[in-house]
Amino acid sequence: MINFSELREDFPILFQEVNDEPLVYLDNAATTQKPKQVLDALRYYYENDNANVHRGVHTLAERATVKYEGAREKVRAFINANESAEVLFTRGTTTGLNWLSRSYGDAFVNEGDEIVISFMEHHSNIIPWQQLADRKGAKLRYLSMNQEGFIDMEEAKQVINDKTAIVSIAHVSNVLGVVNPINELAKLAHDNGAVMIVDGAQSSPHMKVDVQALDCDFFAFSGHKMCGPTGIGVLYGKRPLLEQMEPIEFGGEMIDFVNLYDSTWKELPWKFEAGTPNIAGAIALGAAIDYLTAVGMENIHQYEQNLVAYVLPKLQSIDGLTVYGPQDVENHTGVLSFNLEGVHPHDLATALDMEGVAVRAGHHCAQPLMKYLDLPATARASFYFYNTKADADRLISALEATKEFFKNGAI
Ligand SMILES: Cc1ncc(COP(=O)(O)O)c(C=O)c1O
Repeated sequence: MINFSELREDFPILFQEVNDEPLVYLDNAATTQKPKQVLDALRYYYENDNANVHRGVHTLAERATVKYEGAREKVRAFINANESAEVLFTRGTTTGLNWLSRSYGDAFVNEGDEIVISFMEHHSNIIPWQQLADRKGAKLRYLSMNQEGFIDMEEAKQVINDKTAIVSIAHVSNVLGVVNPINELAKLAHDNGAVMIVDGAQSSPHMKVDVQALDCDFFAFSGHKMCGPTGIGVLYGKRPLLEQMEPIEFGGEMIDFVNLYDSTWKELPWKFEAGTPNIAGAIALGAAIDYLTAVGMENIHQYEQNLVAYVLPKLQSIDGLTVYGPQDVENHTGVLSFNLEGVHPHDLATALDMEGVAVRAGHHCAQPLMKYLDLPATARASFYFYNTKADADRLISALEATKEFFKNGAI
């Protein structure tokens, strides 16, 4: 049995006061906090092993390379990729999706082809496809969803058709907390000769991801949303597709031979990793994966769903508060967006911050979704496994106090 409240001790940042109140950090969809084990891995690397990778024959270079490539293998196991050559280190989800737009898209999407995304996508999974559609004369199409954020799969069967070249969908929405049916969408994509791309930014931190079981062709995610440092992320791709793709960046590390007027590339995965990579970041991401794996992704998922079962009904019972996304506990992950009648979400987030409760307010990098829902913005509380029922209680009481304040002009 994992004692989740003991795990909190691993996160030093959580033990501080904000505005004279103990911090309750509920902005985990934006970025998560880092356990000591990850901070130690970063420090250990710089104090003991720091050297450039793949270049030197000296001992430190060898050690840094072994650790960097070891981290790649940890990622492979974490997402159950077939081989570590299918794991490319990036800066994060955004970089991975941009690489796909540039490398896969420029090579394989033609005029008149269609790219299918949904109305709930993060800007990182919209703009690279808008740009690709512009470059190629392709058409961008959107899958709609119902009131609770479930994709309309009947409509999807029409929208995904033999003109579709790419389907790119978030595994979990960063606003609605809904889990999308990737398997079904991948089947529709594949039946129509399209590739299935998954934005895994909000799923990889919270549930067991198996890229082979999902049957996606590409899967992008960010280290900083799963206890790792910023500036490191992963793009997974199936080998036959990655082999056909050209690198996006050129320079050191990614070449085999450089002649005066042409060059050849290294094999996978290195042909995509030009320049000195984020070695420390990759190693620390490996430490984050060790940490998450030791706790167990199934345990994390179960713990977070128990928190949702605790907090969602409490939110729903606050008069004047609207929660967006699925209304039932089974289908709602720990990303909870809401609005309190008569209070702008920014004012709400500021009022909660006064109580030490950190939530996000705004469009959450999903302006088309806000337009679709006819909302200017929402407030968003997003939970991770180091949050507790006590944190949920603090959120609820701060919301009640804010409501009173805006009603009566005093807390
Ligand atoms: C669903 C989703 N996609 C993509 C991103 C972009 O991630 P990053 O900024 O780490 O590249 C985010 C980050 O908020 C996200 O929630």
